[in-house]
Amino acid sequence: MPKRLAVLGQPISHSRSPAIHNAALAELGLSDEWSYEAMEVAPGEFEARVRAMPGEGFVGANVTVPHKLAALAIADEVSDAAREIGAANTLTFAGGRIAAENTDATGFLKSLPEPPEGKRALVLGAGGSARAVVWALVTSGAEVRIWNRTLEKAERLAEEFGAKAPGATNDPHEFDLIVNATSVGMGTAGTAAEPGADLKALHLDADSLGERHQVVDLAYGSEETELVRVARARGATVVDGLEVLVRQGAASLRIWTGMDPPIETMRQAARTAWHRKNAPDI
Ligand code: ATR
Repeated sequence: MPKRLAVLGQPISHSRSPAIHNAALAELGLSDEWSYEAMEVAPGEFEARVRAMPGEGFVGANVTVPHKLAALAIADEVSDAAREIGAANTLTFAGGRIAAENTDATGFLKSLPEPPEGKRALVLGAGGSARAVVWALVTSGAEVRIWNRTLEKAERLAEEFGAKAPGATNDPHEFDLIVNATSVGMGTAGTAAEPGADLKALHLDADSLGERHQVVDLAYGSEETELVRVARARGATVVDGLEVLVRQGAASLRIWTGMDPPIETMRQAARTAWHRKNAPDI
């Protein structure tokens, strides 16, 4: 019996998830039976597509923009994380039922160099990605402050999850862990209008970043983001967006297969896929 997996989104053609997961399935010796593909799905087609999948041999799916709310709504069983975050990125089909989980949160936690308990964390952003990050940090016992370009959204998110409301400035001296969960830097590395533009958009003073900081940038593009480059140059411990993507994928793969995911193989596949996808079309 083939066991199919997929990532559902729109757009989806640039997703690195098929490369990451197929490399992992090969490493685990599962490629004869298991496979992972990308599926472009428009919002109006999402529910019908998902309901058809178990009959087509699918045992699970990752779900990305713009379907993470719909993925939660369609599920028969929902994890605490997915329910509290209000979004799901991982579906499992078994016994005629659909289970939903959010591995954006668990994958983010796995990507951290140290457990965040007791750390003073600054989360930049208040959109969908930030919700998973704030939930993960607050439930792990970090002290979380949220900053967002639109301050009211940060205030609402802080209130909902028991984090602190935005401060007037993002002074890195006040924090141990800084997470960029905005779209600043996403796909724009190397084409940024001017040096310093991303840090300016995030209201971060580069000179205040140093060795005592852990910096996580959920954004990734064809090259290092400005935040990753600057933080690394200043001696901070840095986790980039591809590492978080890999950890999220690994957490999903563990749910579907019950096996330990081969993280290093997945990392290499993410970075190779990145170069291949970004190669000029000739
Ligand atoms: P995602 O699902 O990736 O989180 P989203 O929900 O659209 O996407 O959220 C995007 C986040 O990036 C928001 O926090 C947004 O800030 P606003 O709430 O003010 O829109 C932030 N963002 C996007 N472009 C930005 C920019 N140029 N400067 C600062 N923040 C930006």
